[in-house]
Formats: sequence, structure tokens, C-alpha cells
Amino acid sequence: MNVTFRQIKVFQAVARSMSYTEAAKKLHLSQPAVSMQVKQLEENIGLPLFEQMGKKIYMTDAGNEFYVYAQEITRLLDEADAVFEEMKGVHGGKLTVSVATTANYFATRLLANFAKQHEGITISLDVTNREVLLKRITQNETDMVIMGRPPEDMELETEVFMDNPLVVIAPPDHPLVKEKEIPFKRMQQETFVVREQGSGTRIAMERFFAEEGVRLTTGMEMTSNEAIKQAVEAGLGLGIVSIHTLELELETNHIKVLDVEMFPIMRHWYVVYRKGKRLSPVAQAFREFVLEEGPNLMIAGR
Ligand code: PGA
Repeated sequence: MNVTFRQIKVFQAVARSMSYTEAAKKLHLSQPAVSMQVKQLEENIGLPLFEQMGKKIYMTDAGNEFYVYAQEITRLLDEADAVFEEMKGVHGGKLTVSVATTANYFATRLLANFAKQHEGITISLDVTNREVLLKRITQNETDMVIMGRPPEDMELETEVFMDNPLVVIAPPDHPLVKEKEIPFKRMQQETFVVREQGSGTRIAMERFFAEEGVRLTTGMEMTSNEAIKQAVEAGLGLGIVSIHTLELELETNHIKVLDVEMFPIMRHWYVVYRKGKRLSPVAQAFREFVLEEGPNLMIAGR
């Protein structure tokens, strides 16, 4: 089989987006160049990898099979890269970190402090929700992830480094603001502005209501904590957010944390990477830095 690494990269990009146009954009190539690479790869293999039905493309059985090999080949090359980086030491090198939307309230500061200690490294930070983070790990697209409790059914290395308390927030003029030890059941009468499906905060809050047998009424759905806080401030409902997102609003009294029984819901932050992944020296140094410095970060709620 006379396959080039470039063909593999192009194939992976098409397989991930299921679109020649998207893959071309991502790779900064023209769409015909992408189709051509795939066509040559298919000729080399002797089987079609994609098939077109109407406007959509689908992966054939051969395509699915080749995808597994392509991932393994890329992983091995990354690993070889890491070995050579290790020989070069921590100076220079590239670090790709993906963090949960909520973790970004402190992750940027962590990365900035780390970068100060390691001149010459290049850092790429990707901020996204839990669901996408897990995809990034499976597809080996990131060195390390900072997220809430990782799933137990995946092959992962996980280390906890900090608490993540989730609290109920309300606008300052809400009648419950003055009350103490509000029974959790009382939340049944409120509407909540919530994060999108796939967010760790959303999953934790839904699980908590379900476990306690309390009905959760959801209103608007938003993909950022900033939007949630603004919606709560505007009186669109109550919210449940990590206390780490609140520093400014609490100082300026724009938002109040309600004293609800059984709150905060205690989540934790983890450093996570794929089991068996050989970390580059810079990734290894960052892992140690997070475990050491994370607990000392001066952030809201500490
Ligand atoms: P989120 O993640 O930003 O996706 O809600 C935070 C968490 O997992 O607690």
C-alpha cells in the first residue's frame, strides 16, 4: 500500500467533518485538492472510503476500518514526536490544552503563569464543553484536558486538583435572597436558566435534582456562563453555576448566591489525558504545575 501521510491527514479531516468543504477549510487547501487526495488514497487502497448520496457523504466499511488505522498511525507519530521532544528538554515545544468552558475562569491564569516559567513554548488553548472535551481525548487531538468528573468507562488517566462548588444564583431583588436555609424543594417553584446539553454543570445539576426527586423547570438554554449570569441578573430565572465564575458579580452585588439547603453541589476539577499517552516534557511539566499550583489559585469561592 503506497499511502502518504498527507493523504492520511486529509482523510482524517474529511472523516471528522464528513464534508470536503469543511476539511478543505480546516487544512487551508482547496476543495478539489482535498477530493484529489482522497481519490488517490482510495486508488492506493483499492476500495472507496466515502460514498456520496445526494449532498451528503458517508463513510464506507473500508473507510471506517481505515479510520481506526489512521488514528493509530497519527498517535504513533505523535508519540515519536514526544520522544524526540523529551530528548530536547522542556525548552520550546508545543502544548495543547483543552479546558471546560467553566474551567477557563482560572485556566488562562494557570497557563500564563506556566508560560512565564517556560520561555519559548507555544501554547494552544481550546475552550469547550464536556462532551467535546471527551471527543478531543478519544481522537488524540489534545495533550491534556481540564474538566469536571471524567467518565469511568473510558481509558483515562485522571487526577483531581481542586474543588468546584456549584451554587444557586439570583438577582439581588429576588424574594429568596433574604431567606436562610431555603429548603431545596422550594426550587421546584422556580425556573432555571441553564447551560447547553453536554455541559458538565448542566449534567451535574440535572442529576442532583433527579436524585433528590425535585422537579427542575428549565427556561432559556445558553452556551456560556457569562450569558447565564446576565440572564439571571435580567430576571429571566435562577441559575446554577460554578462559584469560580462569580468573582466580579459578587463584589459588585449584581448577583446573589442563595442559601439553599444541601448547596453547594460539590464538583471537582481534574487533569485528564488518555491512558497510555506518552506526555511530551512540556505536557508533563504542565501536569505537575497544575497539580501543584491549582490548589493555591486565588479565585472566587476560595
Ligand atoms: P462545563 O464543565 O463548563 O461543561 O459545564 C464544567 C464541569 O464539568 O463541571
